[in-house]
Amino acid sequence: EKAGFEHFMLKEIYEQPTVLQHTLGGRFAGNGTDVQLELGLDPLAVDRVVISACGTAFYSGLVGEYLIERLARLPVEVEIASEFRYREPVLDERTLCVVVSQSGETIDTLEALREAKRQGARTLAVLNAKGSSISREADDVLYIHAGPEIGVASTKAYTAMVAAFELLAIFLGRARGVLSGEAAAELIRALRALPGLVEETLGARPEIAAVAEAFKDKRDYLFLGRGANYPTALEGALKLKEISYIHAEAYATGEMKHGPIALIDADMPVVAVATASALYDKTISNLQEVRARDGVVIALASRGDEAIRAHADHVIYVPRTLELVSPIVNVVALQLLAYETAARLGRDVDQPRNLAKSVTVE
Ligand code: M6R
Repeated sequence: EKAGFEHFMLKEIYEQPTVLQHTLGGRFAGNGTDVQLELGLDPLAVDRVVISACGTAFYSGLVGEYLIERLARLPVEVEIASEFRYREPVLDERTLCVVVSQSGETIDTLEALREAKRQGARTLAVLNAKGSSISREADDVLYIHAGPEIGVASTKAYTAMVAAFELLAIFLGRARGVLSGEAAAELIRALRALPGLVEETLGARPEIAAVAEAFKDKRDYLFLGRGANYPTALEGALKLKEISYIHAEAYATGEMKHGPIALIDADMPVVAVATASALYDKTISNLQEVRARDGVVIALASRGDEAIRAHADHVIYVPRTLELVSPIVNVVALQLLAYETAARLGRDVDQPRNLAKSVTVE
């Protein structure tokens, strides 16, 4: 069943190129300038988006926020479902409430959906499991088609959720007339190339394994990322925590000097997402600040970026793509880092202690 892989999680990490084909397949239209989603939703009847979910699905929503604001120019808020459902959120019929869930059974997310409906919001569920409770109650469902996910630590569902948000953002941007056909075509070309780029990222496993080996006995890790890759840092830290039990936290790179920099020493590896982006130079200055305090930097960098070697102790190269598409490529390297670390520590990768695959009680 594990198709020759040692763990379901590893199998699911390796399935991602195929999963992305399924998520994106058949959803492009109009000569590669448009996205076609079979939704009842009227994009012109929306003037605000609220995204709610838990755990990894919540992090996919944070990427969604970035994408929808950039590409569709709609204001977006993202909130953890267990908070949202009790907060008496202010919603109306021009609010689109998007809930995100692999299982479709997470109680807090289901209740967030019910709260949104009570308040008259339009609802859309980004889901993996067909026929789930959430699928029956949402106005619209956008399936990610990731197939069954067995590993408790979510991997392929995350990249497929982010891919679904790429589609949704382009769809909303085009329908609202704020995203040009040319800009959409460039994104769609990058999305079409994604399965190949993720495959290439899997090829970095030996270098990632070397990093895992070097730092597996550390007690704390810090993950940094900014913009669309701030959620990548959050997800990388969550994966490491869940399956290796190493304490890891994530910060937006620009926030480091407002506190976490006090923790920097040679004992806490810093994983920094430093792939090509508009704010690359600022990220490099932050890395210099880490190293000036004897911090150890593990940089995730775009292939061909030789200059970064001067600012990092270890470099993991990933293929180059558009900044807005890069979270999907980058997170795969961090999934492998968590996996290689946990496997070396002899952890129960597929069934980490205290965790359930789907959380159906509060
Ligand atoms: O099934 P869901 O996507 O609603 O689950 C949400 C979270 O419980 C889930 O993502 C959890 O955080 C995973 N253990 C992450 O690896």
